[in-house]
Amino acid sequence: MICKITPSSFTKHTCKSLSIFPAYRTFTDKSRREEMFHTMFREVLDSRPVPMRKEFVMNEKNTTETLEKLDIGPNNHHKPTTLGDKAAYYTVRTLRILPDTYFRGNHYMRAAMLETIAAVPGMVGGMLNHMKSLRRMSEDHGWISHLLHEAENERMHLMMWMKCLNPNVWNRMLVLGAQTSFFSAYAMLYIVSPKTAHRMCGYLEEEAITSYTHFLNDIDSGKIENGPAPSIAIDYYNLHPKATIRDVVLAVRADEAVHRDANHFLSDCLAIHDEDFFSKINSDKDKTSTT
Ligand SMILES: [Fe+2]
Ligand SMILES: [Fe+2]
Repeated sequence: MICKITPSSFTKHTCKSLSIFPAYRTFTDKSRREEMFHTMFREVLDSRPVPMRKEFVMNEKNTTETLEKLDIGPNNHHKPTTLGDKAAYYTVRTLRILPDTYFRGNHYMRAAMLETIAAVPGMVGGMLNHMKSLRRMSEDHGWISHLLHEAENERMHLMMWMKCLNPNVWNRMLVLGAQTSFFSAYAMLYIVSPKTAHRMCGYLEEEAITSYTHFLNDIDSGKIENGPAPSIAIDYYNLHPKATIRDVVLAVRADEAVHRDANHFLSDCLAIHDEDFFSKINSDKDKTSTT
């Protein structure tokens, strides 16, 4: 799923537009300028956001039928047993009252608001694990990459919903307030107890699955019109060209199931003080291949 863009694809217009930047103008030679730009931003030009689930990166287009068959583990609920788990569970259950009361059946705005919050834990976790890796001068065992990928995946959900609605100033202020308070609170929780933070994120994802299931039910009952899917969602999820909003909801809900399972798993790893789960997966693979 790599989108190749070569330096030759730069148009005269692009180069002319970029020449307003003083740093760009320091290179007087045109080919040198283009080479410099390509070197600096190679990863942006040569790639695009990659979905988390393998079903979305296969060559075959995803149809409504394949999306409906995606395994979302509908009964995968982590029963809270420890004090931390219970605190995380009941905090999330309480926080749910706010969007339930304010947005009610406005699923688009509710989804957009949810994604502005859901994209925070991955970035906070990725950043704090990055700091931990530097501080301890030790490897992160894949945590940073995974958590940043989760944050990007959530942000892509938001970008898709933003093609379907135009939030008013009040709702944008609400997002600003929610992000400020949630980012600070989640970062503090992650510093004090990353185990509880991942558990809380797992419960947030459980609630996200419930919200998207309600969205789906309202489309199926005709309360919400099932319009065409935005092109950003068709590209990202490799959907069939005639995909609808319902298909997007199915795909996004399947992503939330991955986030739920991954965050509960990471919390379990921290509970047993064993963060290096990749080495175990690899050693299990080695054992299977030698038997
Ligand atoms: Fe999401
Ligand atoms: Fe999520």
